[in-house]
Amino acid sequence: SDSDPLQDFCVAELNGTLSINGFPCKPISKVRSSDFFFDGFTKEGNTSNGVGSAVTSGNVLAFPGVNTLGISMNRVDFAPGGVNPPHIHPRASETGVIIRGEVLVGFITTGNVYHSKVLKFGEMFVIPRGLAHFQMNVGKGKAMVITAFNSQLPGTTILSLALFASNPPLPIKVLTKTFQVEEKVINDIKSKFIF
Ligand code: GLV
Ligand code: MN
Repeated sequence: SDSDPLQDFCVAELNGTLSINGFPCKPISKVRSSDFFFDGFTKEGNTSNGVGSAVTSGNVLAFPGVNTLGISMNRVDFAPGGVNPPHIHPRASETGVIIRGEVLVGFITTGNVYHSKVLKFGEMFVIPRGLAHFQMNVGKGKAMVITAFNSQLPGTTILSLALFASNPPLPIKVLTKTFQVEEKVINDIKSKFIF
């Protein structure tokens, strides 16, 4: 949950010029029923990429009707063997339900304890706020998961990209010392993340 709304709704005016904690509201006279419905999850995401997964976001940027309401959702599609790589949401806990396939869901606590389970249709999981987590399709066919967050904009730090594909890049010495490997190893990893 983000902060509590002070009115029924505040459909986001995404191109507002004000800078506030969230988005300003569309004038009530311009609010339509369509502001409260979102069809972004009706199509499968394109999983033809290195990790074999695709996240379709239903956050405030895609679905301005959730502005100030403290909620949002994602659709995550997986090719066989696809992984939604380890990542963190700094502003939300996450829950999810498996719609299709067999999915290994795991997270790691701040004490480095790993919790995981393989889930099937209808089964749910919860990821506490800020903890690193992933999902991997371990079934034979495609998989699909719907996730939900107690934030209108949970934020996502994908650990691999944060470390190996930032802009500008981290100093290579930080990475060689952190992982205690030669530069070549770091450069090999980095070469996978040039999109
Ligand atoms: C899955 O972890 C998601 O962030 O939608
Ligand atoms: Mn997540």
